[in-house]
Amino acid sequence: MVEIAEVQRGLEDVVALESRICFIDGKQGRLIYQGYDIRDLAARSTFEEVAYLLWYGRLPTASQLTDLKTRFGALRSLPHQVCQQLDQLPAEASPMDVLRTTVSALALYEPDETRPGASSIGGAQRLTAVLPTILGEFHRRRRGLPALTPRPELSQAAYLLYAILNREPTELEAKAMDVALILHADHELNASTFAARVTASTLSDLYSAVTSAIGTLKGPLHGGANERVMQLLDEIGSVGRVEEIVHGKLVRHERVMGFGHRVYKVEDPRATILRDWSRRIGEAAGNLHYYELLRKVEEVVHREKGLYPNVDLYSGSVYSLFGIPPDLFTPIFASSRVAGWTAHVLEEYQDLRLIRPTAKYVGQVDLPYVPVAQRS
Ligand code: SDX
Repeated sequence: MVEIAEVQRGLEDVVALESRICFIDGKQGRLIYQGYDIRDLAARSTFEEVAYLLWYGRLPTASQLTDLKTRFGALRSLPHQVCQQLDQLPAEASPMDVLRTTVSALALYEPDETRPGASSIGGAQRLTAVLPTILGEFHRRRRGLPALTPRPELSQAAYLLYAILNREPTELEAKAMDVALILHADHELNASTFAARVTASTLSDLYSAVTSAIGTLKGPLHGGANERVMQLLDEIGSVGRVEEIVHGKLVRHERVMGFGHRVYKVEDPRATILRDWSRRIGEAAGNLHYYELLRKVEEVVHREKGLYPNVDLYSGSVYSLFGIPPDLFTPIFASSRVAGWTAHVLEEYQDLRLIRPTAKYVGQVDLPYVPVAQRS
């Protein structure tokens, strides 16, 4: 039997490929997109600039940025057949299931420019532009709100808020959402991006790769954690109950969502930035309830488990203050990460290698076949 190397469960610390898109220094708590530190990008750029950076490997000039914003505005509408399908979906459907289903359906009506080999940046721009529309169209239908009108003049962040809330976001809300979209745009070979690359590595198409990624992001150990953080906060209710509830979970070896990370061994730099936005938005709203609860939760989890917050801990507290329902938090994560997923798919097409690891077989061999009539 061929000698197999030791199993690395969860592919932990396995270096699967080379990439120029994102670097994470887990020991120093640094995150870099195409050479730029996330702290600079969050403080000084926009989601449109970051999407361009991820796809092209350089920041856009002013005219390139204007062109991208125009394209995003022009690519936000859905084919009427897909709108008719949205009409049929159950109002109680999970928005992540709606997103996955609708991206998959979209592929049936879109040009084949998304097929491997062709310039798939057009497909990447299309999917990035249209995800907020899918979220908004579904949410409006389930809430009986008026149909979404195209607003090509709005930035992605402002349009996402307008699509969901059916109102113009304030400048502060749009800025906070823009920063959140920047922070969630890419993160090296996280599970959903890896799923996208595995799909692309078979020469499957961009829409199939993004459909794989959406299904993967839904899991509570990955993108689904931000929604569960808010469920925990609602269970806790007040700062005085944090110690009792969180300690109880840890004693029962339950996971406290929003903490821990496979790569970061110190604080996730995105959590640092989102903590500050949670405070700023809370102060502006005159409601620091979630922020104060989270600070206390952090204190207990770090004291008892030495764990640090990850990107999912504070994002929901910001979105809740905008009036966004928790089941749209992970879809918002997806509407940002689609830029990273598609950048990685493009990179995979450019340096293609079928991704196919092996397993260490621990089952039986050479069992004699017994006809069904003789089996007991
Ligand atoms: C994201 O990969 C990425 O980059 C993902 C992401 C991205 O941008 O794409 O950063 C986004 O997915 C962030 C993570 C969101 N998920 C959560 O917040 C869910 C809760 N966290 C975990 O389940 C966990 O921390 C993981 C899944 C994130 C990482 O898990 P690992 O690396 O597999 O670590 P582990 O499960 O082996 O845990 C090591 C120890 C264990 O303790 P012991 O059993 O050895 O005593 O730490 C404990 C775990 O029990 N632990 C936790 C914990 N996370 C780890 N204990 C309580 N609560 C937690 N959250």
